[in-house]
Amino acid sequence: MKKRGFLLVTVCILIVSMLVGCGSGNGQVENQEQLNAEEEVENESILATTEENSTEANSEAEKIGGGTEGKTLVVYFSATGNTERVAKVIAETTGGELFELEPVTPYTNEDLKYNDDNSRVSQEYANESLRNVELVADTIDDWQNVEKIYLGYHVWWEIAAWPVNTFVEANDFAGKTVNPFCTSASSGLGESGKLLEELAGTGDWQEGMRFRSSDSDEDVIAWLESLEQ
Ligand SMILES: Cc1cc2nc3c(=O)[nH]c(=O)nc-3n(C[C@H](O)[C@H](O)[C@H](O)COP(=O)(O)O)c2cc1C
Repeated sequence: MKKRGFLLVTVCILIVSMLVGCGSGNGQVENQEQLNAEEEVENESILATTEENSTEANSEAEKIGGGTEGKTLVVYFSATGNTERVAKVIAETTGGELFELEPVTPYTNEDLKYNDDNSRVSQEYANESLRNVELVADTIDDWQNVEKIYLGYHVWWEIAAWPVNTFVEANDFAGKTVNPFCTSASSGLGESGKLLEELAGTGDWQEGMRFRSSDSDEDVIAWLESLEQ
């Protein structure tokens, strides 16, 4: 009888402990499900924030000339660095690719002496047939993907420094928008952009802009923003 009572108590303890065990198991499952659901909500909100940020970044690039479907190219010829500085601001602001036009025979300081009738540049100015300046490269591999071009040069005797002519003659600008820009000591853009447009014969050439060497990066960015309006 004592033995049976002991067995009964043992069975009861077993049943109770199984029930308690099951109960706490369900609780774990429920807790896990709740954690999963919370994690899912958190992931969705991280995803939404990331998408929001990347959309904001894209629209900022589009605002200042980048973000177009095709490629933006910033081509420039610079002998003493003024045009190069402007070109770099344009490339940074628009996300465009920089392409420097380098004569096979670079211009030395002696070559650039415009007060010396015997200097290279004076000789080329005096004799148009000497202005065919050969470039290290006059086009880029994926030219067909280029949609917008910023074409930079400095002013020589109130026209575009002629090494850019070699680039203009070597490429087909059909379907591309061209924004000329130049730097000079005092002359304006003048007819320089129009003459290059005539030389190209194709492309949608815009009015263009002249910068002084004293113009700031903000002046360049302001011009880029004005093109978008
Ligand atoms: C041969 C030569 C001719 C120039 N002719 C003019 C000119 O007609 N008008 C002008 O305002 N500046 C003229 N300049 C000054 C340059 O256009 C100016 O310094 C320019 O910013 C130089 O650009 P870079 O530093 O990119 O070479 C001339 C410079 C040289 C070397």
